[in-house]
Amino acid sequence: MAPNAGPAGSLDVVVRQLRWEADGVVSIDLASAAGNPLPSWAPGAHIDLVLPNGLERQYSLCGPPGERSYYRIGVRRERASRGGSEYVHAFLRPGQRISIKGPRNNFGFGPAGSYVFVAGGIGITPILPMVRAAEAQGADWQLFFGGRTSASMPFLDELGGYGKRVRCHPSDTAGRIPLAELERPVEAGAKVYACGPASLLSDLDTAAENWPAEALHLERFKAPQLAPAENKPVEVECAASKKTVSVGADESIVNALDKAGIPTVTSCRSGICGSCETKVLDGVPDHRDGILSASEQAAGDRMFICVSRACTPRLVLDL
Ligand SMILES: Cc1cc2nc3c(=O)[nH]c(=O)nc-3n(C[C@H](O)[C@H](O)[C@H](O)COP(=O)(O)OP(=O)(O)OC[C@H]3O[C@@H](n4cnc5c(N)ncnc54)[C@H](O)[C@@H]3O)c2cc1C
Ligand code: FES
Repeated sequence: MAPNAGPAGSLDVVVRQLRWEADGVVSIDLASAAGNPLPSWAPGAHIDLVLPNGLERQYSLCGPPGERSYYRIGVRRERASRGGSEYVHAFLRPGQRISIKGPRNNFGFGPAGSYVFVAGGIGITPILPMVRAAEAQGADWQLFFGGRTSASMPFLDELGGYGKRVRCHPSDTAGRIPLAELERPVEAGAKVYACGPASLLSDLDTAAENWPAEALHLERFKAPQLAPAENKPVEVECAASKKTVSVGADESIVNALDKAGIPTVTSCRSGICGSCETKVLDGVPDHRDGILSASEQAAGDRMFICVSRACTPRLVLDL
């Protein structure tokens, strides 16, 4: 086992610093327990925290882009927590050891002539390193940052340093983010990167129906609410392990593969973290994740087997 390693596929880190950032939000700096540089990462990446209470939760890296001596995450305490953010707030303290997995990036930050960033509440975490990267490139950029109140919006001190490029919209005093103002920069070729509550992302999805393809890039922290769909059974052929597994209508592909002893990698099991991404060699997937864009789903060459199913009676997967 490498000196940095924790349980299978994970890395041991130590909590170096914990700081209050806003109402209900703390930032946490994690350094390698072995003192090694941490794996490299780019804006948009997240890690999985493997918590001592047995839960795994994803948190976006929000420190300086490329920083490898520590990872910074920002965690909002969820009112209806089943124990993830609750553990972080109530029990995680400086000096404590914990395991992480990743980083993984489903929200890659690509080159563009200009950028519009849209963040709601804790959705600022993956956007913050993008803002810093855009500024370092000398790019033209603008951030619209919304929240319930300014006291609930983290990292405002740092963002204040960017002057008029940052437009804050605490809804109690400044109303909602004026999404109509995105039209002009998008028409001029700007890429939009957004993360925030489901209502904001859904409004952006609607606005983007009139935008050029691939102008909008989203990161979801919660599984999207999809229209109810029929679950059909499917035969899954695992090309590498040369096994075929029957997946019933009442179980996920991942659960059927687990039962058949075929190894898979999972974390969220709700189609939002990306851990279970699998190459599709034949057949047509029925995508039910919150990660792929419409064109990526249409390509049909990869799928997230914790939630997605099949439109064809048989799928051949690279497993
Ligand atoms: C890629 C990614 C990056 C993320 N980055 C951040 C970040 O930077 N900061 C941050 O604070 N959070 C982030 N999150 C969210 C984070 O991973 C956790 O989901 C969040 O902290 C809540 O965890 P919890 O255990 O406290 O709450 P949970 O118990 O997971 O509850 C979250 C919500 O789900 C609802 N819920 C209740 N039961 C269920 C159920 N059975 N199945 C599904 N949902 C249920 C609850 O009502 C609640 O509203 C990210 C998520 C993803 C996927
Ligand atoms: S386990 Fe997270 S997307 Fe499948």
